[in-house]
Amino acid sequence: MPQSPSLPGTTDRRLAALLTLLSENATIVISGARIARETGMSRSTVWRWVQELRKLGVHVKGQRSTGYFLEKVPDVLTPDLLRKRTKGNLFGKRVFHFFKIDSTNRVAMELGYAGEPEGTVVMAETQTAGRGRSGRSWHSDEGTGLYFTVLLRPRLSPAQAPLLTMLAGISAQTAITAQTGLAPELKWPNDLLLNGKKAGGILTEMHAEPNVVRFVIVGIGINVNQETFPAELSSIATSIRKESGRMSYRLELLARLLTQFESDYNRFLREGPAFVVDRFQNVSSFAKGRRVRVDNGAETYAGTTAGLSPEGLLLVQRDGGPLVTVIAGDVTEVR
Ligand code: BTN
Repeated sequence: MPQSPSLPGTTDRRLAALLTLLSENATIVISGARIARETGMSRSTVWRWVQELRKLGVHVKGQRSTGYFLEKVPDVLTPDLLRKRTKGNLFGKRVFHFFKIDSTNRVAMELGYAGEPEGTVVMAETQTAGRGRSGRSWHSDEGTGLYFTVLLRPRLSPAQAPLLTMLAGISAQTAITAQTGLAPELKWPNDLLLNGKKAGGILTEMHAEPNVVRFVIVGIGINVNQETFPAELSSIATSIRKESGRMSYRLELLARLLTQFESDYNRFLREGPAFVVDRFQNVSSFAKGRRVRVDNGAETYAGTTAGLSPEGLLLVQRDGGPLVTVIAGDVTEVR
């Protein structure tokens, strides 16, 4: 199995290996000697890393003399466990995991410039400066949500790259429904809503020449197990847990989402923009017939959504005016 690549701040390989071994044998006491043998560490190093895991909030029981075990499998996104669930998948080969990072998009952008291959995934348990759309921040509570970014090197023109945001939204919607039975609404271009509140968002950034994309990074944030949000978000944000009443295993959701995204991405590359545009219109009830207010920076106007253009831009029938194409800006539903 390929090893996790390393970068300053990435989760130490030995820590990840220890966590994987304990997770795969949860509730069974494993002797320090066996852990040492299977992870290639000395017994005293194993003991030191167990202390580290405890500091990170993983409930490792047991002691040096008897061995160690986990009371229950922690929902930590170790690269090894993800790789096992995404075997052969484009997105399972190069995985960078951080317990804490400023932004997975920032790291993925650097990796893109450094020549990392297509399919590289950067994921974090928490972000201290998670980026949202239009310069906003993305609230990234530790261990409760999914915060990850994938690196792509598609042969697309820069104008087509935003379709990847919509594609990722479609894949995320499919994965969430398959795992939880919930049916998130897709709001053009990058929002996943549950009960009208934001449960996920996508931020795509790219490095391009005038006519060709060098690389694109697609950053996805999903509110999975949050029970509460800061006061300023509580009326506009929700989580899968709040809406379903149940905890979801983040690793499973991530693996499903990446598997789905690989298959959707390949179809997009084979079939072209129409695949994304048609699918989006089919699965987003927001795309047609919704009363909206559009703020494009220069002006604000009211209208009704009227489908997508062949390039994937939102069409809005302005009240008492023409049919306009929304290129950028905030689109808010008016109820
Ligand atoms: C939005 O404003 O709706 C987009 C939010 C995107 C958040 C994700 S979390 C993982 C990745 N890293 C970031 O810094 N942002 C994206």
